[in-house]
Amino acid sequence: MTEKTPITLTVNGRNYTIAVEPRRTLADAIREDCGLTGTHIGCEHGVCGACTVLVDGEPVRSCLMFAAQADGKQIRTVEGLAKDGELHVMQQAFMDHHGLQCGFCTPGFLMLAVGVLEREPDISDEDLLDVLSSNLCRCTGYQNIVKAVRAAAKEMRGQ
Ligand code: FES
Ligand code: FES
Repeated sequence: MTEKTPITLTVNGRNYTIAVEPRRTLADAIREDCGLTGTHIGCEHGVCGACTVLVDGEPVRSCLMFAAQADGKQIRTVEGLAKDGELHVMQQAFMDHHGLQCGFCTPGFLMLAVGVLEREPDISDEDLLDVLSSNLCRCTGYQNIVKAVRAAAKEMRGQ
């Protein structure tokens, strides 16, 4: 058996000191070692985006990153979006615009959209569409996801 190494993941501002094998993915560590199952795993090879989290503010497919690579980094997951019982504007927009059906892809879309808009609030509509096209949804047909993200983008820009 491969030896486990202690690492500390900071997820949504809380430290989790865990022991992981070198090959453990960040997605598995978040779900199984930190107990935060809001991050979903679909394809497990970087295609669907369901596992997207923010690592030091940047959207990352957590099935493609080793947990050890995230040692000491700031990680944000869907569980950290709502504050004081209030949904994040992106979550609210997904509800208002029916941007989800089964919800499997939703945490990935939320983290992707929040991550991109926080880094680049003035991103053009076209580029936003390009970014969102990297994640897969098998239910909604994408139209309402795009509507939701555009509405939240406006609000995040303070318009
Ligand atoms: S589970 Fe990571 S991209 Fe699909
Ligand atoms: S809402 Fe079901 S996969 Fe997107």
